[in-house]
Amino acid sequence: MSKLLSPIELGGASLSHRVVMAPLTRSRSDQPGDVPGPLMVEYYAQRASNGGLIISEGTTVSPSARGWFGAPGLFSTAQVEGWKRVTAAVHAKGGVIFSQLWHTGRSSHIEVTGGPLPVSASVNPAYWQDPTRRTSTPSGWVHPSPHRALEIGEIAAIVEDYRLAAERAKAAGFDGVELHGANGYLIDQFLQDNSNHRTDAYGGSIENRVRLLLEVVAALVSVWGPNRVAVRIGPAGKWNDMSDSEPYALFSHVARQLNRFVLAYLHIVEPRVLGNVVVTAGQAPVATEQLRKVFTGKIIAAGGFEPETAEAILQNGDADLVAFGRYFISNPDLPARIRNGWPLASYDRDSFYTFDATGYVDYPRHEEVAVLA
Ligand SMILES: Cc1cc2nc3c(=O)[nH]c(=O)nc-3n(C[C@H](O)[C@H](O)[C@H](O)COP(=O)(O)O)c2cc1C
Repeated sequence: MSKLLSPIELGGASLSHRVVMAPLTRSRSDQPGDVPGPLMVEYYAQRASNGGLIISEGTTVSPSARGWFGAPGLFSTAQVEGWKRVTAAVHAKGGVIFSQLWHTGRSSHIEVTGGPLPVSASVNPAYWQDPTRRTSTPSGWVHPSPHRALEIGEIAAIVEDYRLAAERAKAAGFDGVELHGANGYLIDQFLQDNSNHRTDAYGGSIENRVRLLLEVVAALVSVWGPNRVAVRIGPAGKWNDMSDSEPYALFSHVARQLNRFVLAYLHIVEPRVLGNVVVTAGQAPVATEQLRKVFTGKIIAAGGFEPETAEAILQNGDADLVAFGRYFISNPDLPARIRNGWPLASYDRDSFYTFDATGYVDYPRHEEVAVLA
């Protein structure tokens, strides 16, 4: 009996299987304006399945939260209208879709923020001085701009940006929202102590570093109520120059604190992936296993899963669902392929972040491959 293909109640929805589409930045929003257009509608509709959960790509909550050219937003009316067409297309196929809310923090460039310096928990020049680091702008991949530390008096406005984006997500027809707390973006920059050197109420102790995350979650829950808000974390993840001196103390505290909100789910990225590359193939999921003992709600595990390892983690009880990233890029019908034992198509990394239909909506479904063969 496949657990991966068995139903589950999640976020107020009845899912018919547990093959979740992970959040995937693809840079295909219409410019200017970061508006989801027809290409994005087609892409998400292709990946929707009856009773399947999709988590949208990272979606910026304000103009100054932007950090990745081509990523969509949820801070304008045009964006809400664009997303309405995406959510309608997913719902028409019986799918469920959450919006991933994103503030990129220091991982940005003034050409993308529109002028203001990127913001972070603290100033870490090594981040922008790293000669290998690149960020996506209208002029191509460039070094991130120098960033500045948020003043304590500015933090309430950031929380409010998230709250307003959550309202817009509701207006746009999403089924819930996921806070992007992983992969070294703003929330993670506050969580982990190699990037947070603050000495105020948002830095220092674990309790203080977790404060921003909890304030944002409370704001999201104020809009959506319980069971429709989720959080994604990347414990011990090193992407974007992250690290923490006590990752499991930190992330256990996060998980424990989140218990009081009755979240739709906690989404955990395993540290064996570095952003979008598996660095320790074959390593068993460790983060999920540890946090399972602490978090009382549903858990989505992500990062380097194959259908077999996904089934295994559900069978051993460390997660309730599994999110697939790269396989969903190249297999629009991934749940059907897993159900039928059809082969999985490989993905083309070079078109992950390009700007047109190629490598985006032209991956065929299995039946189409069979017809062509
Ligand atoms: C092209 C690409 C874009 C991504 N964009 C996001 C994103 O917007 N938000 C996020 O939380 N993770 C993002 N990720 C990470 C994925 O959600 C996922 O954690 C990662 O790909 C590992 O899972 P996989 O091995 O199934 O691909 C991205 C990954 C890829 C490959």
